[in-house]
Amino acid sequence: MKFGFLLFLAIFACAAQAHEESTIEITNLTAAELFEGLDHGDFDVLVDVRSAEEYATGHIANATLMADLAVEGFPSATPDDLAGCENCRVALYCRTGARAAVAATHLVEAGFHVLYNGGGVTQWTAAGYPLVTGTDSVVPPCTVDTTVSEQCTAATHAEDDHHSSFGNTNWDGSRAALVVLGVTVLLL
Ligand SMILES: *[C@@H]1O[C@H](CO)[C@@H](O)[C@H](O)[C@H]1NC(C)=O
Ligand SMILES: *[C@@H]1O[C@H](CO)[C@@H](O)[C@H](O)[C@H]1NC(C)=O
Repeated sequence: MKFGFLLFLAIFACAAQAHEESTIEITNLTAAELFEGLDHGDFDVLVDVRSAEEYATGHIANATLMADLAVEGFPSATPDDLAGCENCRVALYCRTGARAAVAATHLVEAGFHVLYNGGGVTQWTAAGYPLVTGTDSVVPPCTVDTTVSEQCTAATHAEDDHHSSFGNTNWDGSRAALVVLGVTVLLL
């Protein structure tokens, strides 16, 4: 009986873990991967989390400036400037990648799902890619066009389904193994 209860707990621990792993991704990109991704349209939003002064000295083309996103203690709520983009693919960059990493965790807390740390302009320029000046921060289409938000949501749900069926396969596998083990022990 006691063993059966422990078995029961173990099954639920496995199921909870599989579920948690399926939800959040922060992918670190090299400068070349960021460049290729932008070139192929792999991101819905490109966010610069440096200061307005740094942005003005040169930024990646079509970036949205969101300096507050990397500030310590940023509230766990959807940042207004990205409302509607929660299910979209968001790439972040700063000077070296450190602030982008902090900003990515803030977006995870705010309910965003697909995040890329694109590193910093230091790596970007060292790899020979250009910065632009004199253009305004871009308004991300997902913040103003519900059609774009809905496309992101549809894509994310398809991805979640894929992940959860993947997780369920693992869960079913470990459950079957535990049931076999439990029955064996009871029979002995
Ligand atoms: C991505 O980079 C951050 C620091 O910039 C690091 O803490 C994290 O482990 C890296 N993630 C992966 C999957 O390598
Ligand atoms: C920036 O956005 C404009 C308008 O969507 C587009 O025409 C242009 O190709 C983009 N620039 C880069 C470098 O992606």
